Formats: sequence, structure tokens, C-alpha cells
Amino acid sequence: MSALTGPAEIAGRTTPSRVLFGPHETNLGRGRMLSDRHVAYYAARAAGGAGIVVTETASVHDSDWPYERAPLAALCGPGWSSIADSCRPHGTLVLAGLGHAGSQGSSAFGQSALWAPSRVPDVASRELPMELEDAEIHALVEGFRESAKLAAESGMDGVELDAGQYSLLRQFASALTNQRGDTYGGDKSMLLREVLGAVREAVGDRIIGLRLSCDELAPWAGLTPEQAAVLAGDLAASVDYLVPVRGSAMSGSATRPDLHTEPGFNLDLCRRITEAVEGRTLTVLQGSVVDPAQAQQALDDGVASLVEMTRAQIADPDLVAKVRAGAAPRPCVLSNQKCRVRDNRNPIVACIGEPRSGHETEDPALDGADEPREVLVIGGGPAGLEAARVLAMRGHRVELRERSERLGGMLRVAAEVGGRARLAKLADWLEGEVRRLGVHVSTGTEVTDVPGGAIVATGSVAGPRNYAVHGGTVVDVVDLLNGVELPDGPVVVADPVGDFVGVGVAELLAAGGKPTAIISQDQVIGTQLALTGDLADANTRLQQAGVTLAKRSLLREVHAGHVVLEDVFTAERRELPCAVLVHCGHRLPDTLPGAVRAGDCVAPRTVHEAILDGRRAALAVVRERALV
Ligand SMILES: Cc1cc2nc3c(=O)[nH]c(=O)nc-3n(C[C@H](O)[C@H](O)[C@H](O)COP(=O)(O)O)c2cc1C
Ligand code: SF4
Repeated sequence: MSALTGPAEIAGRTTPSRVLFGPHETNLGRGRMLSDRHVAYYAARAAGGAGIVVTETASVHDSDWPYERAPLAALCGPGWSSIADSCRPHGTLVLAGLGHAGSQGSSAFGQSALWAPSRVPDVASRELPMELEDAEIHALVEGFRESAKLAAESGMDGVELDAGQYSLLRQFASALTNQRGDTYGGDKSMLLREVLGAVREAVGDRIIGLRLSCDELAPWAGLTPEQAAVLAGDLAASVDYLVPVRGSAMSGSATRPDLHTEPGFNLDLCRRITEAVEGRTLTVLQGSVVDPAQAQQALDDGVASLVEMTRAQIADPDLVAKVRAGAAPRPCVLSNQKCRVRDNRNPIVACIGEPRSGHETEDPALDGADEPREVLVIGGGPAGLEAARVLAMRGHRVELRERSERLGGMLRVAAEVGGRARLAKLADWLEGEVRRLGVHVSTGTEVTDVPGGAIVATGSVAGPRNYAVHGGTVVDVVDLLNGVELPDGPVVVADPVGDFVGVGVAELLAAGGKPTAIISQDQVIGTQLALTGDLADANTRLQQAGVTLAKRSLLREVHAGHVVLEDVFTAERRELPCAVLVHCGHRLPDTLPGAVRAGDCVAPRTVHEAILDGRRAALAVVRERALV
């Protein structure tokens, strides 16, 4: 049996564990170079037991500049060296991610035409790319060769090539995008084989991994699992490992789905490719693998030899070390809220449960011990739990008081929203850690007088309603999720925020058989879900569930039996049948005076800010002590 946390042999090298930290966009770069932030980010995962770290995919040719801080391989030598040096002491193998995004890139930064096998506009950007001629194809192959050579010279253990969802190599391999009349069109894997040959010459016996789209979810023309099994069999002898992935330009959200898709969704696909390669190369299971038990089971079942757990190690850099020690890693709940950085704000990678991820160079490490003191934490939501956890870790005697009967606060309520049950795992973990660390917890106790030095994390209350209520029933979303019974008849969800709450509640109600409508002032329901990649899927789910979408509408009046809406452009008024209105508006702080405050009681935001605030409040208390 292969232990997830045990060593593995690959191309004559030994990994300390079978867990891979896959290539992903971080926005940690300085210009197009890898930065000291990258070094600290990868070193933390190596120290935590990662078997293989694949660095952020670097463009092999300057025709590719897919996002502002996308690394350019030619500039990555010093960064790769530093990353290899910082990871090597932990035994972790470090591979350079190499690729070219082709027509799925952006011309905004490079200011030149996008490269593609054929003139097929990209589904997302709609930009028409240029068709590569032989000289450019040659330059591309040489770009892969030179980049791989530089990676090897920089001390990397090898490279991982990208023929996955966002790649020019996939665009050549797929009939969706390759409509050429020449030999590269007749033999769609020819470019891939040429690149693999050139890279092998460049890296010698170092590792070559290949990320390969094995199901483009476009069976009318794209790569299907059947075709991919044949392709994988053909390529097996040329690579040291294969990572079968799913998706293409046709299926953006399949690339890195959120918590609406089951963990380990590629198990069957990976099993099929493993069978096809017949032991001639290793395979890596990929696809929302966040549960170590599921990863171990996949190894036991022979699905793969290694497992990619990328988001799981963003959520907890010490995942492998903790599993080895029999401890519970901080769970990745697949929220996609902070680690998905490809949005218009260009944020740095982080995690809702582990805000230090991506911020290793500036945020202090939490370990270390202080002279013990007694600290009272008021409020047992994520902010209070995190404050208590950090203080207890550092040796303080902590008392945590929560006025309700359970810990977890709004995070547990959030887990009741349709499709978001996984959020409860983070609440469970925080609660488990607080109890394990010996925090003295009392629930059902209200604190009114706040002693000096206490941390206040008392959460939020329902916010104002900027519409007139002349009759009917209005229920706050939190009361609904806490189990308040609704009267019979149509439900209308008032959602001026446009995030996961209104959409998820509408889904929940519709799934329960209620005729449901959702009101938004925007042109699209759930606009904020663009940030997590769920916007299109969420609208599909709402439509499939039969939810009425009242867009471009302001809620003006609530009456018994109906609500009055006003069109945002024409001011025209209309009625919508309504037996009960569910209010999902912004919330307001529920606070106590004085002391150090954290989380929603400062300003109601998300779990990420609550945990970050809780951690900062704990460290502020620690620092104050150090000054005394
Ligand atoms: C109904 C509801 C659903 C929520 N869903 C989420 C969510 O999916 N993700 C998130 O980060 N925050 C969500 N929030 C906000 C967090 O629950 C809230 O900011 C956090 O629990 C505050 O913690 P504190 O009370 O310890 O300050 C939701 C809030 C409500 C009222
Ligand atoms: S932000 Fe969400 S999806 Fe991303 S690593 Fe953290 S828990 Fe996982």
C-alpha cells in the first residue's frame, strides 16, 4: 500500500510524500519575475511535507502574457534557483511549470496578436487570434526547449508542461481549436510530441510532467476521455508523470470548481488514464482533492500514484506533516473566495481560513510562546474562535464566551445556505482546535461589561430595510436559516448585495418546493459571484430550479400577498406575488464598547476578514504584553 505521506520514486528521484502542490496563478510576482514572496510561499509548503512543488506556470515565449504578473520563463532563473534552494532542505522536488496560453491569453499586456493553431475566437475573450506559421511553431518549440534548459540549470528537478485547460498545446491537440490543413492539423498531437522531444533533450534525466486535458466537456469536437486514453498511451513513454485534467475554454468553471462540485470529481477520468498508460508512466489524481482520506483511498484503489492537493495546501501549508502526525489539517472548503486570483482586482493568493497564505513574507508566523496571561474572548464566531485559538497556541489561558448555545456563529448559518454545507467543516475545525488547545469555553452566556484587555467578536445584526412594509411577512435570512417556518405561498428573496447569500437562499427555497423569486437591482443575478467563478453556473442553477429572476428592480413596498418593484431605468412599477419576503441585505455590527474588536462587529464582511481580524486581535494582545 502506498502511503499518502510516505515517499515515492519518480525518475530516479525520491519525493518525501505523494502529495503534489500544483501550478497556479498567485499574483505574487514582481513584474514578470518570481519574487521573494513566491520563495516563501513554496518553502512553507515544502516545510509542511509537500512531495512535489510545481511553480507558477511561466510563459515559454514572449508572445504569451496572459495576466499582468504572469512569470516569463526567460526571467525566472534567479527565482527558480531561490525556490529550489529553499525547498531542497525538506526533500521536496521542485519543478518549473511551463506553458503558453495561446488564444486563451490576453493581448492587453503584450499588445500583439494572440497565438493559436487556427483563427478560432476564444470563447471567453471573443478575440480572434492569429494562425501560427511554421516559423512561429518552431519558435514555440524552441521556447519550451530553452525554458526547460534554464530551469534545469537553475537547479530545478524538472519541469511540468501545460497541455491543460488554458494552453496552446491543448489548442493544437483539440479539434475545437485546431482546424489546420497542414500536418499539425492532420496529426493533432504532433506539436505536443515535438515539444516533449525538445524538452527531453534539454532536461536529460530530470523529471518531465505533463498536465493534459483529457475531457474538454465538448464531445462534439473536443478531446473526449476515449481519445485522451489513446493519446496518454502514446505519450506515456515520453513523460515521467501525467496529470489528467478536465475542461477547456468551453467550460471555465470546470477547471477549478467550487463547493457545488463534489471533491475528487476526476477519480473516474484518472482511473481510465492510469489503465491506458499501463504502468509506463505515473499518474497524478487532480480535481478538488481536499480530503486526505479520499486521497489515500485513491492511492489504495490504484487510481493514481500521486495526488495533487493544491487548494488543500493553500488552506493548510502543513497538510502532510499534520496527516503524518495524526492531526487534523485546516480544511479547504472549496469556497474559491480568496485563492482564485484571476479577477479585475488582481489580488494576491490567500485563503479564507488561512489568511497568511501568500502573505508569508509580511504576516508573522503564529508559533512561539509568550509569558502566559489570562484573556477573555467574547463571541464564538470565526473571529472569536481564531483569536482564542492563536492565543491558546501561544500559551495563554483563554476564556471564550458565546451567548448562543453553539460555537461557529454566522459561519454555521452560512453553511445552511443552499450548496454551501462544506463551510461547516471550517467551523468544526476551529471549534476542535480551540477545545484541543484547552480554551475554557462557555456557551449560553452573555457578557455585558467588557473587562480591559478582552477581545470583542460579537458579530452582526440584521441591517436596515430601505423599503416600506405595509403588511405581509418579512423574515431575515439568518432567522430563516436558523429554522423559522415560512407560511405557504410564493417567496421573494430581496438581494441588494449579489453575493452567495441571496442566490444560495433562493436555490434552497426552490429546492424545498417553494415558488421562489429573487430581486436584484443589477442586470445579472449574483454579480459578486464572478469573483469566485460561480456566476454563470449560479444563474444556470437558478433557471433550472425555476426561480423567477426579477432583474433591474428595486424593492419599494411589501404588502400582504405582493411586493411592489420599480424598474431602475424606467421607474415603472409592477407587482410580484409574495406571501413572505426574505431579506438578504447588508448587515450591521453588533458591538460592545471598548477593548480590541474583531470580525463582523467591526464591519460585517466575510469569513476571511473575520479570521484575519481575530488573528490580528490575538497578536495585538500578545504584543501589548511584550511591551509591558
Ligand atoms: C446568511 C449568511 C451567509 C454567509 N455566507 C458566507 C460565505 O459563504 N462565505 C463567507 O466568507 N462569508 C459568509 N457570510 C459572512 C460570514 O458568515 C461572517 O462575515 C463571519 O461569520 C463573521 O464572523 P464573526 O461573527 O466572528 O465576526 C455569510 C453571512 C450570512 C449572514
Ligand atoms: S479560499 Fe476557499 S477554496 Fe481557496 S484554499 Fe481557502 S478554503 Fe480552499
